[in-house]
Amino acid sequence: MCFNTRVRNVDTRMHFDVLTIFPEFFSSFRTTGVLGKAVESALIGIDVHDMRDWADNKWRQLDDEPYGGGPGMLIQAPPVIAAVRELEARGGPVRNVLLSPRGRVLDQALVEELSREPRLVLLCGRYEGFDERVSEILEPDEVSVGDYILGGGEVAAMVVMETVARLVPGVVGDPGSVDEDSFAAGLLDHPSYTRPPEVEGVEVPDVLRSGNHEKISRWRLERAVESTVTRRPDLIIKNWERYPTEVRRLIRRYAPQLDPERA
Ligand SMILES: C[S@@+](CC[C@H](N)C(=O)[O-])C[C@H]1O[C@@H](n2cnc3c(N)ncnc32)[C@H](O)[C@@H]1O
Repeated sequence: MCFNTRVRNVDTRMHFDVLTIFPEFFSSFRTTGVLGKAVESALIGIDVHDMRDWADNKWRQLDDEPYGGGPGMLIQAPPVIAAVRELEARGGPVRNVLLSPRGRVLDQALVEELSREPRLVLLCGRYEGFDERVSEILEPDEVSVGDYILGGGEVAAMVVMETVARLVPGVVGDPGSVDEDSFAAGLLDHPSYTRPPEVEGVEVPDVLRSGNHEKISRWRLERAVESTVTRRPDLIIKNWERYPTEVRRLIRRYAPQLDPERA
């Protein structure tokens, strides 16, 4: 079973192929909201393939017991390797991403890296994961979405697709909103408000209603820096080299101890 609304379209800017034993997980994901629109307008393609289609038995069974014993079952290597090879043969070179808690933890830098690929194949594990030979033979990039254990790779694959697709030109209507997202500049986003101007006595900061765009930009930058030094000082350390002088100056003001150049 393959949940394709289209055959692979080489004109899409980014194409995802998902290998899973639960293709139905993705039916609303690929037709709803920003991603749904992007699929419809062929900015991205998402083809979801049932790994059981490559099973070598009439029961379409893919899992088997681990050698050496232990709890749970593993997904066998041969059907997964055959599936990836067939997808490669069908649509040209791909970068294989195997979702795994032991993988490189997904962050915005990795999202940006993946968004430069024309095509990603996402391998979703289930049970206790894949036979190790899937990794040994295909040498995929192993990607984790965080230090916790999901029941399967499907939700993790959705995280990868949604974050990567946002960076494909045209997917998010206003490119400015991507540029201003948390992490895009190594800072968390500034606080934002909408109507009404007052909720239970709490008012929108005056500056945001002043109409003075220079002051508003300044306020937003200050709040973004303040929020980052307070909530995620690790981001400041990681991104110091890419901050412009103005941001470094603000960091020194709010948290001088985070300045790596401090004598
Ligand atoms: C129940 S988990 C297997 C966990 C495995 N026994 C372990 O301890 O590493 C089943 C599948 O969910 C997916 N998964 C679970 N947690 C994940 C995470 N943090 N990031 C990415 N994928 C994850 C992987 O595809 C994994 O093969």
